Amino acid sequence: MENQKTVVLGVCGGIAAYKLADLASKLSKEQYDVHVIMTKNATEFITPLTFETLTGNKCIVDTFDRDFQWDVKHISLAKRAALALIAPATANVIAKLANGIADDMLTTTVLAMKCPVLVSPSMNTAMYEHPATQRNMETLRSYGYRLIEPESGVLACKDVGKGRLPKTEVLYEEIRQVLAYPKDLAGKQVLVTAGPTQESVDPVRYLTNHSTGKMGYEIARAAYLRGAEVTLVTGPCHLPPPYGVKAVQVTSAQDMFEAVKAEADTSDIIIKAAAVADFTPAEKAAEKIKKQGRKTAQINLRATTDILKYLGEHKHEGQLLCGFSMETEQMLEHSREKLLRKNADMIVANSLRQQGAGFGGDTNIVTLITRQDETALPQMSKEMVAHAVLDKLLTFGK
Ligand SMILES: Cc1cc2nc3c(=O)[nH]c(=O)nc-3n(C[C@H](O)[C@H](O)[C@H](O)COP(=O)(O)O)c2cc1C
Repeated sequence: MENQKTVVLGVCGGIAAYKLADLASKLSKEQYDVHVIMTKNATEFITPLTFETLTGNKCIVDTFDRDFQWDVKHISLAKRAALALIAPATANVIAKLANGIADDMLTTTVLAMKCPVLVSPSMNTAMYEHPATQRNMETLRSYGYRLIEPESGVLACKDVGKGRLPKTEVLYEEIRQVLAYPKDLAGKQVLVTAGPTQESVDPVRYLTNHSTGKMGYEIARAAYLRGAEVTLVTGPCHLPPPYGVKAVQVTSAQDMFEAVKAEADTSDIIIKAAAVADFTPAEKAAEKIKKQGRKTAQINLRATTDILKYLGEHKHEGQLLCGFSMETEQMLEHSREKLLRKNADMIVANSLRQQGAGFGGDTNIVTLITRQDETALPQMSKEMVAHAVLDKLLTFGK
């Protein structure tokens, strides 16, 4: 969908310029049409040849260069670009852009652009914190440019502080966030739950389930890419939280209830993909439970708080509530009944009995159940299921 969009990378004369080779390579491999414009000083740090080899496009440095197909390059690129990223953005280029100075190919092209412009400042901490740089960045924000926070750490100058260029993956995700999908969830607060819970039996053991969190994490990522502000309340998973999403880590069903309750009021859409324990040990043993020659042992269980039911009872006007149901039998009947009993707007039903569905794998087979209709989807990647769930929720109220 986002393929073959033109991305302009503006590389400035900062020590991190060499890191842009990695990003240019990644974007080209992902089928973006990548054009690199370098400042003259940037060529002291990395050669245009590197970018030309990685992108297959001529790297432009000089405004008055005539050694290529004739057109008014800065205007044609500015018109064609779906997005520009300036990285590492030097204090100098930031100052020039803030003041509308166009004295080289990069600043001239950016001034002619109407597409989204991302700026990733990278410099020594003192330069970054200087009021002039701070004011110039504020000015860029007021033009609608998106500033990417530099990281903190040991800088090339051996100072420790803020000013390091973020990793390639972060810059890549920032670009993807802008280009990948229509922003049909812009302005919406989306709360997603994911993963299993752990219910302590004693200081050593716990009860849990096979959920890996993949489905919920894909939903959180998809909602972020579509412009939502996303909070992900997650049980213990082995997945990195999706970029751009606020992750709240919890352990037990009770922790998850508290975290969800704290976020629910301000959420426009709540999607509960977590596999929350229905029961928890009635008492947690203070010491490790010993075998002591016993052949059997019992754990007394009590029901946990039903989070979906709570949310259904406290749903506010305009809020959408979507639950998941994982069934081993009579999937549709149980899910329809759950939709009504929990006052949900949609249930995403999946059967543990179907090959290609359920825990762990990268695919799922789901049926979207609302009060109006039921949509049985074929086997899809969890990423596509996530978008299908969001697509369906966006039809409510239309
Ligand atoms: C070794 C070295 C590293 C530099 N690193 C940075 C940097 O990371 N960030 C920055 O803003 N300026 C840095 N500078 C200063 C810029 O190169 C200088 O301000 C230059 O005028 C920027 O040119 P440009 O903005 O046209 O690319 C560095 C200079 C040198 C000599």
